Amino acid sequence: MLVLDGVSHTYSNGTKALVDASLSLAPGMFGLLGPNGAGKSTLMRCVTGLQVPTSGSIRFNDIDVIANPEKLRAVLGYLPQDFGVYPRVSAYELLDHLAVLKGVTERGPRRDMVEGLLQQVNLWEVRKKAVAGFSGGMRQRFGIAQALIASPQLIIVDEPTAGLDPEERNRFNDLLSDVSSSVVVILSTHIVDDVVDLCSRMAIIVGGRIVQQGSPHDLLGLLAGRVWRSTIAKSELEDMTRAGINVISTRLRGGRTEVHVLSETQPPGTFEPLAPNLEDVYFATLTSERQHRSVGAASKSVA
Ligand SMILES: Nc1ncnc2c1ncn2[C@@H]1O[C@H](COP(=O)(O)OP(=O)(O)OP(=O)(O)O)[C@@H](O)[C@H]1O
Ligand SMILES: [Mg+2]
Repeated sequence: MLVLDGVSHTYSNGTKALVDASLSLAPGMFGLLGPNGAGKSTLMRCVTGLQVPTSGSIRFNDIDVIANPEKLRAVLGYLPQDFGVYPRVSAYELLDHLAVLKGVTERGPRRDMVEGLLQQVNLWEVRKKAVAGFSGGMRQRFGIAQALIASPQLIIVDEPTAGLDPEERNRFNDLLSDVSSSVVVILSTHIVDDVVDLCSRMAIIVGGRIVQQGSPHDLLGLLAGRVWRSTIAKSELEDMTRAGINVISTRLRGGRTEVHVLSETQPPGTFEPLAPNLEDVYFATLTSERQHRSVGAASKSVA
């Protein structure tokens, strides 16, 4: 069980990247969904023990992560958002080296482990090639291999599928879901489908705050009967927002604009009810947070 309690982080330049985050995570895959700059990587770095939060506590089972980050590291697999510079050494050599650093010092078991991981992530055929020459997808699969060294109990992967083509993305997600049954996996993403496909629990983070959490099913329930769809000309959109209609998302479809609206009752015009999907939950949350914040900013400027 991973438990964050009131975790805040303010960078030295004053950016409040994380504000009073509290979460409890049981084994299984947990999706952390949020836009660019929301604080996902900051939260994840705090959980890895690599960054000490300004305040709050983080525990993983009986480990106090802030007091004993080295204890956490022994059971942690981490794939950072920027997995750094790739040396011109082969996949096999690099993985073997990383395994030594992780404390797998005995040769025989290490060889078995490294070979097993390279097969698991489907890099066995290219194990003698330099990681520096790998494609984006191959690098991410190498990244997950290194995160799986020595059977970690907590796996943190920061936007692992960004930049992968659909086939690589599926392959990566399959790999991750295979390992997630008995360990805590935290996956950050701004791709809603990754969460739909993989996660039994999730949180939405905006502006450093966790604004929603629960199972995707629970969060969908919050919107039941309140999402409406219409297809309009782009020029009508402005009238719609001026009329106070709460547009949560717009998308071009065959040159027309499909709008999704959040409303307790059927909005005026040609709207039809829509079974919400997780993208509606995400956009409705972002819209409501942005409205709150602009109201907050406006009242502050008045005061
Ligand atoms: N080292 C740093 N110093 C100062 N500010 C930082 C630092 N790292 C991140 N920030 C700021 O903290 C906020 C949260 O950043 P963070 O990288 O955690 O977001 P994120 O959700 O991971 O975004 P992305 O999806 O773009 O990766 C942003 O406003 C960012 O500019
Ligand atoms: Mg990030």
